[in-house]
Amino acid sequence: MLNPKIEGAFNAQINAELYSSYLYLSMSAYFESKSLPGMAHWMRLQAQEEAGHAMKMFDFVNERNGRVLLKAVDAPATEWASPLAVFEVVYEHECKVTGLINDLTSLALEEKDHAAGIFLQWFVTEQVEEEANALAIVDKLKLVGDQGVPLYMLDKELGQRTVSPAAAE
Ligand code: FEO
Repeated sequence: MLNPKIEGAFNAQINAELYSSYLYLSMSAYFESKSLPGMAHWMRLQAQEEAGHAMKMFDFVNERNGRVLLKAVDAPATEWASPLAVFEVVYEHECKVTGLINDLTSLALEEKDHAAGIFLQWFVTEQVEEEANALAIVDKLKLVGDQGVPLYMLDKELGQRTVSPAAAE
């Protein structure tokens, strides 16, 4: 049984994960419009991963006999100044999500909900990877600048992203 505080916090995090998915899907559409199919592909997989995060929480709340209540998902931005600007937003957004996951984990501990605490450890670890992945691409884009050929090569590299085994769980 989930206590109402934990249940409400999980519902808020489900909304945040769905917003992340929507944001990355919007970024995928942006890259499609800029003829950068590799980056569009990377973002599309990222959007799927975020929807997967929401579903992990959805299933956890139900398993604990809680009630999932879905709220409106905010509209994401649709335009950015450059590929670098997009990935800088991704990095900032992931840092923000890390804060939300940490707050949720702290609440689980305060409320002595150890099952929730253990469940959230997966997300704590995932956020380390999410931040690192975004920052690595920011760094590469800073090196590339607005040079056409290196940008084309980086787009090709990002287009090779595959679904991570953890995301497919
Ligand atoms: Fe669901 Fe990118 O964290």
